[in-house]
Amino acid sequence: MIYKVPFVEPTKNYRMIKNEIDAAFFEVLSKGDLIMRGQLKQFEENLAKFVGTKYAVGLNSGYDALHISMLAAGVKNGDEVIVPAHTFVATASAVVNAGGTPVLVDVGKDYNIDVTKIEEAITPKTKAIIPVHLNGRVSDMGAIMTIADKYNLVVVEDACQSLGGTFNGKRGGAFGMAGCWSFYPFKILGGYGDGGAITTNDSRVAKMARLLRYNGEDRETGEYYYHGFTCLLDNLQAAFLDIKLRHLPDWIKRRRKIAALYKEGLEDIEELKLPHFDTPGFEDVYQNYVIRTSKRDELANYLKKNGVEILIHWPKPYYSYKALELKDRGFPETEAICREVLSLPMNVEINDKQVEYVIKTVRSFFK
Ligand SMILES: Cc1ncc(COP(=O)(O)O)c(C=O)c1O
Repeated sequence: MIYKVPFVEPTKNYRMIKNEIDAAFFEVLSKGDLIMRGQLKQFEENLAKFVGTKYAVGLNSGYDALHISMLAAGVKNGDEVIVPAHTFVATASAVVNAGGTPVLVDVGKDYNIDVTKIEEAITPKTKAIIPVHLNGRVSDMGAIMTIADKYNLVVVEDACQSLGGTFNGKRGGAFGMAGCWSFYPFKILGGYGDGGAITTNDSRVAKMARLLRYNGEDRETGEYYYHGFTCLLDNLQAAFLDIKLRHLPDWIKRRRKIAALYKEGLEDIEELKLPHFDTPGFEDVYQNYVIRTSKRDELANYLKKNGVEILIHWPKPYYSYKALELKDRGFPETEAICREVLSLPMNVEINDKQVEYVIKTVRSFFK
């Protein structure tokens, strides 16, 4: 089906920066700079600067960033790691694949971990906590860092959905031992394939990530330090991402503008909850514009039928899949979210007319 307002338009995004991308493609390919060359180093430096950390290490995916962070945190068999019940499954899988056990905690009205429920989930086995900054909103890092200090826990931020988001003026991904990033194509900073990174102020973590991403080998000396992986960010992707990073501040402004238009156009609909929260100190970047209603399924069908493509993140909680063997301790907010949310188109490709059309269509449903 061809939508009047598609959820994302990667070809349009490419056309917006075609000259720069084509030039980078030509440069990288004509020099044969494919693995760990200048473009990767340059992107890592610029990413670290943007986030506000000393180091950034380019990896193959957000999952790899989380997995390597778990290893750097020293998570091993028997260790528990606190993760939100409402997140992408990769957050929990990284814990499991490091040998740990995810202990899930429900989320609050802003879709991020409910900081009032963290302490009751801590046991003597708890090693770390992974707050997830969902939908472009940084978690309450003030409360989380206080709890982590009190119980001596390592904090690894799953910031995969929040590049540029801040809490009390500091960017998400710069609070904990490590920040984990995904450059999956439809992320706020998306590549043309998979990509990811770790940001950190800890030279030990940065060094470990650099070794683990390339089979445990120190490339300068040839010494092997770990049984590692092959999971580095390709030089070509790094070149593309570096270009997009330069556009990111403007693209974040545009996302905020779209969010403001949605707010203005929809805030009087009583049956609809919008993703604008009255808590000072948070600056969201709206990776996703998530709206919430008890009529979610009817609204989703109506929007699709009328040419507005929407997505649902996620219709079923990840812990409810039997094969994953995760403990459901009772997460009422997550359950309700899975029944009630849908995401409206939110990207830098859509124009104001398309935003107006989405607003008009949502309004006509509730009329
Ligand atoms: C919250 C969250 N965590 C982790 C990931 C994993 O990132 P990737 O798909 O790059 O492995 C994603 C992205 O899909 C995500 O949204």
